[in-house]
Amino acid sequence: MNVKLCVLGLFILSLSSCYYDSEDKLYPITSTCDTLNVSYTNDINPILQNRCYSCHGNNNTVSVYEFEGYTDLVAIIASQNFLGAIKRVSGVIAMPQGGDKLPDCEINTIEAWINQGKKNN
Ligand code: HEC
Repeated sequence: MNVKLCVLGLFILSLSSCYYDSEDKLYPITSTCDTLNVSYTNDINPILQNRCYSCHGNNNTVSVYEFEGYTDLVAIIASQNFLGAIKRVSGVIAMPQGGDKLPDCEINTIEAWINQGKKNN
């Protein structure tokens, strides 16, 4: 087999493997934050899973507060300044502790869910 051709072939292959799609261009961000009819299961629990359960999950060893699960979440919202913690109001320990403030959309989604009556939906 012709060695030069083979090397050329590999070179071309390696070029094509460097092609990548830009997610932003393929799926333009139509950035509106949908806070109508927020769902505990589809919206709230996933946010808290990503941001909070590492410290506040069931049987954690970091915090006295566990709010993994609907009932426990409703209970901590009733007893602690939950929104104040994620909005970083002064006098409340800023959450997530040691991490960045949540994106506005996530804060707004949680607030909307609370205002919509904390539905177990
Ligand atoms: C890195 C660990 C960690 C993460 C992540 C974290 N917390 Fe906390 N959180 C703590 C600790 C520690 C406390 C202090 C109380 C305690 O020791 O249990 C606390 C306290 C709180 C309190 C009570 C605040 C007060 O002033 O008494 C709330 C409400 C709270 N967290 C909500 C959240 C929410 C909501 C998230 C996710 C968005 C979150 N936390 C993420 C560790 C964490």
